[in-house]
Amino acid sequence: MIPRETINQIIETARIEDVVSEFVTLKKRGSNLIGVCPFHKEKTPSFNVNPARNIFKCFGCGKAGDSVRFIMEHEHYSYPEALRYLAKKYGIKIEEREQTPEELAAQNERERMFNINSFAQDYFSQTMMTTEEGQSVGLAYFRERGFRDAIISKFQLGYCPNSGSAFTEYATKHGYDKDLLVKVGLSGSYEDRTYDRYQGRVIFPIHNLTGKVIGFGGRILTSEKTKAKYVNSPESEIYNKSQTLYGIFFAKNEISRLDNCILVEGYADVLSMHQAGIENVVASSGTSLTTEQVRMISRYTKNVTILYDGDSAGIHAALRGTNMILEEGMNVRIVVLPPEDDPDTFVQHNPIEYVTKYLTDNAKDFISFKTNLLLKDAKNDPIKKAGVIKDIVETIAVIPDAIYRATYIKECSRTLEVPEQTLMNELNKILRAKLRKQLGIDPALMPQTAEKPVQQQPVQQPESTLPVGFYQEQELVKLLLTHGSDTLDLEEQDETGQVSYYKTTIASLIVDDLKNDGLLFRDPTHKKIFDAFDRGLDNEQLPTAKDFISSEEQDVAELAANLLSTQYRLDDWRRHRIVVKTEDDVLKKAVLMSILRFKDMVIDDRRTAVVKELQSCTDPDDQLILLQKKKRLDDIRTKINHDLGIVITK
Ligand code: CTP
Ligand code: MN
Repeated sequence: MIPRETINQIIETARIEDVVSEFVTLKKRGSNLIGVCPFHKEKTPSFNVNPARNIFKCFGCGKAGDSVRFIMEHEHYSYPEALRYLAKKYGIKIEEREQTPEELAAQNERERMFNINSFAQDYFSQTMMTTEEGQSVGLAYFRERGFRDAIISKFQLGYCPNSGSAFTEYATKHGYDKDLLVKVGLSGSYEDRTYDRYQGRVIFPIHNLTGKVIGFGGRILTSEKTKAKYVNSPESEIYNKSQTLYGIFFAKNEISRLDNCILVEGYADVLSMHQAGIENVVASSGTSLTTEQVRMISRYTKNVTILYDGDSAGIHAALRGTNMILEEGMNVRIVVLPPEDDPDTFVQHNPIEYVTKYLTDNAKDFISFKTNLLLKDAKNDPIKKAGVIKDIVETIAVIPDAIYRATYIKECSRTLEVPEQTLMNELNKILRAKLRKQLGIDPALMPQTAEKPVQQQPVQQPESTLPVGFYQEQELVKLLLTHGSDTLDLEEQDETGQVSYYKTTIASLIVDDLKNDGLLFRDPTHKKIFDAFDRGLDNEQLPTAKDFISSEEQDVAELAANLLSTQYRLDDWRRHRIVVKTEDDVLKKAVLMSILRFKDMVIDDRRTAVVKELQSCTDPDDQLILLQKKKRLDDIRTKINHDLGIVITK
């Protein structure tokens, strides 16, 4: 445990410009420094470092924070890891708080387990590289499979001698405890005998996010059917299979840089891909993916590409478990390999240019992949086709983001040759049913839109006709619906610097603020919901989510159902933008930022109009007026950005 005072000392000592410039080339720009953002792809620098405030902020991707946050994001460190990094950089000594005997015991056992694993890994590698048996059996096996020394050493592969208990004896001679050897699964015990669990097997160490060895997989070298192909570490305090991804330590930076994670099944697949230079690859180790694993990936990217063997078992495996990834808000793509290959053989047998081109050309987003696959099975059978439609819409319904759902509906309407409105109705039915359950609403109160006559032609709403700021409006509507009557504590400073605190509802914060600036929603449905809250504020009786879901007006009911099925993910705020302390804090920031983003969008739109007018204006007086207008809008924008900066970093 790092004591609070030391944490403060580290934060105060660390200079943001210092810390960042180790990783990013910075140029002076006014009182700030700017550079190319390390967190997203860009050509023109929008990454700002503000030495006065001791913070960084990227105006491109929105990442922002202090030195600790920068190191956490950039190095994928945990909070204490980042603090230790900075302490080391500035020569600050960390006096760890003394631990309670219980903490110490638990800590000690974990530490000892890590130590044993590290000792074993070293032994297995040494054995493979330096002993006669290791070289002629273990090393020969890996070489035979096309693994070169660089990859063998990077992944710390090894070999355990085939002699009963050579390793266990060696380890106990070096003072390691037999019980603990058994507990981490390096040794097994039978009556009073202790033996090597991995004897005669090649060893794949499994690393955690920080590169420590938490477990092992040992592969048999023969094709004996009576023995398990792999012996793996048992679950322990340091190894939890469902929370582990093989290769994550070696892949995380590349996953983050390429903003994509490739998912394969086995150890060998990961090794071959890395060896071929494709390093954003991890394996689920033969089981179907768990929520924890998906969350681990989502720390680095929202995009997952799953590589499947081309056989039909592989393809059908692709359909299973994927709903869960979608539910986590990830974008899933699928690549099916040629029927005779798995990722390992595919990269080993083809030139890298061919492999990368194949991956790009064959990546299909999951929804269209599934649609096409099911459609092929259904042929022209109308009953089967109805089943397909239902299945697909149910899959779309698990996606938490309303905008993505709408995009997929549009696309599936084309592939399935079903009007978009029909799919939308089906989707809303499912979403409402879910909500009904969640909110405990009497079904009789729900509008029965599905029974209404369905429009035959899909209503195409081209992207370009969406009013400016549409998504920002929608974000605010979502906040109104989900948290409108929640209260927040805000602070306000008058000109004399006097600070006062006040309480307000989120509805009042949003509605009054926008009305004061004369900003109104342009989308008619958004405006109806906005007005309902406006009226509610007048009557001191705010509408609730239920009122909207059971609204007489179909557009309102549907939008409400749609938005309320969108998870509000606190994690997103944590991850992307800001250091947050409490849920209240998150909410406050979410509201303030959404308001500012909406304003920014509207101002930007007005500014574009003015600039356009300026270009065609020849009269000097008019030009002057337009220039003044532009200046005013620029000032407002600067203020908005300044406020955004405060909201983000406060
Ligand atoms: N696996 C396991 N136990 C088994 C079989 C498989 O733990 N008895 C896990 C391993 O993590 C393995 C993954 O499932 O890496 C995929 O299985 P498979 O494709 O059979 O293994 P590969 O590692 O690809 O093995 P190889 O190519 O060497 O046959
Ligand atoms: Mn394989």
